[in-house]
Amino acid sequence: MQRILSGLRPTGKVHIGNYFGALKNWVKLQSDYETFYEIADWHSLTTKYDDTEALKQRIIDTAIDWISVGIDPGKSVLFVQSDVKEHAELHLLLSMLITVPRLQRNPTVKEMARDEGLQEKLSYGLLGYPVLQASDVLIYRPEKVPIGEDQLPHLEITRELGRRFNNLYGRVFPEVEPVLTDIPRLPGMDDQKMSKSLDNAIYISDTTEIVLKKILNAYTDPTKIKKDDPGHPKGCVVFAYLRALEVNSIEDIRKECRGGDRGCVECKKETASLLNDFLEPFREERRRIEREVDVVEILKSGGDRARVEAKKTMALVREAMNLW
Ligand code: TRP
Repeated sequence: MQRILSGLRPTGKVHIGNYFGALKNWVKLQSDYETFYEIADWHSLTTKYDDTEALKQRIIDTAIDWISVGIDPGKSVLFVQSDVKEHAELHLLLSMLITVPRLQRNPTVKEMARDEGLQEKLSYGLLGYPVLQASDVLIYRPEKVPIGEDQLPHLEITRELGRRFNNLYGRVFPEVEPVLTDIPRLPGMDDQKMSKSLDNAIYISDTTEIVLKKILNAYTDPTKIKKDDPGHPKGCVVFAYLRALEVNSIEDIRKECRGGDRGCVECKKETASLLNDFLEPFREERRRIEREVDVVEILKSGGDRARVEAKKTMALVREAMNLW
């Protein structure tokens, strides 16, 4: 069976951009691949090093979100990055194989630094974010990495580092390929990238009322002021959500909007209700998990399983590099 590795930082709340961009594929791929899904707690320190008080709880909440959308601990290995110290060793070794200017060109790191107000204070750790991510991936020697579009620059660095290692020391790592969903980038309510730090996200754990409120406040076509003004679905956040939900009547909705036969308020209410219907099974599942499932135990045993694979790769890496 081919192997998959992916991960998310433990922000504590998974948003619908994470879901439609990556998690949806994680769930689907579980049946046909050996799947490893990591909660990247060290990565969260690249920007949130000063906010660790609730980190353990955020890890647990992230795992609950994952399981509630269908990540099955019986099929997938769910684990916490810092539970597998071997990632740190590989990170150190790979950091020798990439230049600082190459890392400075990474648009996703630049974006993160900007969104967090860290441009002038870019740490060594944040600059090395993609190197740590490369070690997360390569240490499991997977074939595929299901991610959102924003992660592609990181994956490119992973591929470069794998190739460079293989050329220098002999082949240890496979060529990894990204796997994208049909909705690799879902906009936030303000039409920027959906992100916790921009405070524009809809979370899969949001209540019905919050979802409605957020959608009613979402950015739509600024040229459509009255109901019968013709709209432009292409740049509309709400239309992007309807597409993600794979609404059957999407073509009719597009026509009605363009023709001025559909008002934004009505459209938003309909979208919120569809999104709430979609999220309701996840909410129910979360209540069950909170009652019945020992998430800490799942993560611990996932860590044990992941560590076995990571140790195998590190033995190959040390041998290839002639390390002591
Ligand atoms: N950078 C990813 C994110 O923020 C998280 C991540 C860490 C990851 N390690 C990974 C994703 C390895 C894929 C593979 O969403």
